[in-house]
Amino acid sequence: MSEVVSYARDGRIAIIMVDNPPVNALSLPVRQGLAQSFQTFMADPAALAAVLICNGRTFIAGADITEFDKPIEEPWLPKVIHQIEDCTKPVVAAIHGTALGGGLETAMACHYRVAVASAQVGLPEVSLGLLPGATGTQRLPRLAGVRTALDAMISGKPLSAAAAHQKGIVDQVIDGDLKAGAVAFAEELLKGGKGPRVIRNIKIDAASLTPNFFADYRKSIARDTRGFFAPEQIVKCVEAAVSLPYFDAVKRENELFMQCMNSSQSKAQRHLFFAEREVAKIPDVPKDTPARTIKKVAVVGGGTMGGGIAMNFANVGIPVILKEVNQEALDRGMNIIRSNYEGPVKKGKLSQAQMDKCMALIQPTLNYADLSDADLVIEAVFETMAVKMEVFGKLDEVCKVGAILASNTSTLNVDEIAASTKRPADVIGLHFFAPANVMTLLEIVRGAKTAKDVVATCMALAKTIRKMGVLVRVCFGFVGNRMYFPYIREAQRMMLEGVAPERLDRVVYEWGMAMGPHGVSDLSGLDVFDKLNKEWKDKPNDPAYCRMIGLLVAKGRLGQKSGAGIYKYEGRNPVPDPEVMKLARQEATALKIPQLEISDEEIIERLFIAMINEGALILDEGIAMRPSDIDVVYCHGYGMPRYRGGPMQYADSLGLGRVHSAMQKYRARYGDLYWTPAPLIEKLAKSGKTFAQWNAERG
Ligand code: 3HC
Repeated sequence: MSEVVSYARDGRIAIIMVDNPPVNALSLPVRQGLAQSFQTFMADPAALAAVLICNGRTFIAGADITEFDKPIEEPWLPKVIHQIEDCTKPVVAAIHGTALGGGLETAMACHYRVAVASAQVGLPEVSLGLLPGATGTQRLPRLAGVRTALDAMISGKPLSAAAAHQKGIVDQVIDGDLKAGAVAFAEELLKGGKGPRVIRNIKIDAASLTPNFFADYRKSIARDTRGFFAPEQIVKCVEAAVSLPYFDAVKRENELFMQCMNSSQSKAQRHLFFAEREVAKIPDVPKDTPARTIKKVAVVGGGTMGGGIAMNFANVGIPVILKEVNQEALDRGMNIIRSNYEGPVKKGKLSQAQMDKCMALIQPTLNYADLSDADLVIEAVFETMAVKMEVFGKLDEVCKVGAILASNTSTLNVDEIAASTKRPADVIGLHFFAPANVMTLLEIVRGAKTAKDVVATCMALAKTIRKMGVLVRVCFGFVGNRMYFPYIREAQRMMLEGVAPERLDRVVYEWGMAMGPHGVSDLSGLDVFDKLNKEWKDKPNDPAYCRMIGLLVAKGRLGQKSGAGIYKYEGRNPVPDPEVMKLARQEATALKIPQLEISDEEIIERLFIAMINEGALILDEGIAMRPSDIDVVYCHGYGMPRYRGGPMQYADSLGLGRVHSAMQKYRARYGDLYWTPAPLIEKLAKSGKTFAQWNAERG
């Protein structure tokens, strides 16, 4: 018998149990074990029905994603699934935890499904750049209807057991012991003389669909799925489910699944799946490092950032004190928070009662003394070292022993900030991204003296407030902003060389970024960039460096907030301004910068290769732990599309030889200052390896 799938009998009911920790993924031994067990079941005259159940924390959570980069070995999942469905005695899937992807597909091959109330079911393949490729695109429309099935597969979001029951996916929600409930359900089937209910024989009610149903559906998802390959393939599979005989449609599903699986998009999205789990692993801070208790938080600074930060804690039921310097600023801060909550309440995404509960958890204050019992204090004041040091000096006086003192600085030296206290081991950077109540990235900046339990506490806290915590070390701009500077630098330089901002932003948007760099600069505020450039001690010695930002700020064009920056604004809509390119041409003449014909390919190459080279330097210096951590930063905090997998994965997909030769090409044109390849790129280009291989080999 298989080691991961067992066969037993409970009276006349066969119990087939999968036991493949941690999530019962459908690896080859599980597929083999299932094939064998269902064969045994059919040959066992004493077994009149079967229950498929899983040991451990969950029902089957899907195909084994680690197998996707290797040739798939027989038996393939669709074959096992048809074997289960073809059993002539009833089979009941008993679901707990999460029945996802191939897990739900297996459950839908069973003739009936029961689930505990806490279970969830879903087809999340789309988030891996895939489609449900083991008949899921054919079975879910039959069980739940075309529209529900499409919504579930395009969003990838799981359904609760209750919702799945209501949609016809689950036949019964079980109270109490799952196995006993499933066996009782099977006994009832036998008593009622009910045989197998073969899902593939259910007719899809195509007549109830409007004539333009699929065209309209495509339009409705166009914005959310822009640039992604898999969603359209899912729609095609469901069209096939509606219009083709079952086995022809399954063949189509298989062809489209293979296209998705072999796509660079799916490789990138699978890379991110593992990157997002790897990011939590810190070699010198093991999982069992005791964390400090965080029951009360304080935020110093009630501006847009401080308010957004406070909301994160209130949202998960942690009381927050919001500290400001005067009543007017405090009132303004509380009003911003209130209006941030009112938006979702108006849209029906949050109830008034939930909003009231969150607001009640945020206590405004003007007194530092009120911070004395906070377990964590996050400073979110003006981005100037002197101001930060003053605040930390004050916190050192009032905060209790053991409190974590965090700075939301986006660039400044956390070690210097820590040195303004007598407890540098308790000091850490918690860099939230604007809007702080929405963006999922949290850069956790570990200072030279930060204690390990402070790191462990902040990593755990990131999870509690539903953020992706990425641990980084101290340098100007940390990981995200430091890599963003060369990207902005090239965008700015290309403006001087004659590339209009709206063209550059369009090319970058079409590549997949949520916004182009000029739009982002205007949104963040050109004055913010200008101030950073002025504070940056190692700023490049180059008069052209971010030249236009400085000039526009000097003219009072600060970006969206002042109605004009790189663009003019009609409300929040950017409008190209010929004056800006006129100014760029004048400056180019003064700086003797030639006007160039720059292709779309060059725009992408210069922006992203510059960013990647900085990423390689960051890895060389140990500022980020792994290339995949950088990818997580960019996909969660900087609007990089998941189908690119992040800048370092993108570099790997290009090949570092290509990255290196692009660096050399621009080095020949612009000199060594910006375009000397990072030593790591030099090394990997020579050895023909990727960042991922380099990371795996160094252990
Ligand atoms: N294959 C391989 N490994 C998997 C896996 C899978 N499907 N799902 C999870 N794992 C691994 C994780 O990498 C992690 O490994 P680690 O401990 O070494 O880092 C471990 O299992 C635990 O996972 P999580 O940390 O994510 O545990 P959680 O309890 O937080 O979440 C979960 C559990 C909800 C099941 C979550 O892991 C998940 O969403 N898994 C992926 C589900 C999925 O996408 N299924 C579809 C797969 S594609 C498919 O089925 C194709 C088919 O249609 C042909």
